Amino acid sequence: MSDNLEKLHEHYREGDNQFRIAGGVEGIQKLANDFYDQMETLPEAKHILGLHPGDLTESREKLGRFLCGYMNGPDLYKEKYGPLQLAPAHAHIPIGTDEKEAWLLCMEKALEQQPYPQAFKDFLLQRLAIPAERCRNQP
Ligand code: HEM
Repeated sequence: MSDNLEKLHEHYREGDNQFRIAGGVEGIQKLANDFYDQMETLPEAKHILGLHPGDLTESREKLGRFLCGYMNGPDLYKEKYGPLQLAPAHAHIPIGTDEKEAWLLCMEKALEQQPYPQAFKDFLLQRLAIPAERCRNQP
């Protein structure tokens, strides 16, 4: 990574910069909604859509709340639903490489729709690949 990019990533990691750059609660809830819109649209995501409840309203809200805390903003998920550990929360869902890649594809496409700087989108997608890998429980 170039020195400049490293400095930028350091900046993103400070305080609640990610939360703010992502547009606060409103911006992040939009990201979560766009993410699930992508899941409902992309043929590559049909399989993981099928793992979700038929009504995605709560999934949209839960992801938005979770991502606020993930980006060092207020932990809105915990406030409403209590603490969440991602890997145990996904243990009952069969997630292999295909499912992980489909999830990240939905996120990549949703990030494309946001008014964030490109470097920030790249940073978030790179960051999210880590919990996505942790959720994988199949070869
Ligand atoms: C790796 C691929 C992933 C797949 C296939 C996947 C799939 C799912 C499914 C099917 C549910 C709904 C469970 C239900 O309502 O019965 C769910 C819930 C959830 N997922 Fe994921 N997920 C993945 C990764 C992630 C990642 C990386 C995050 C966050 C960064 C995340 C955040 C959440 C949250 C917050 C919930 C709600 C948990 C709850 O309250 O029960 N997921 N996921």
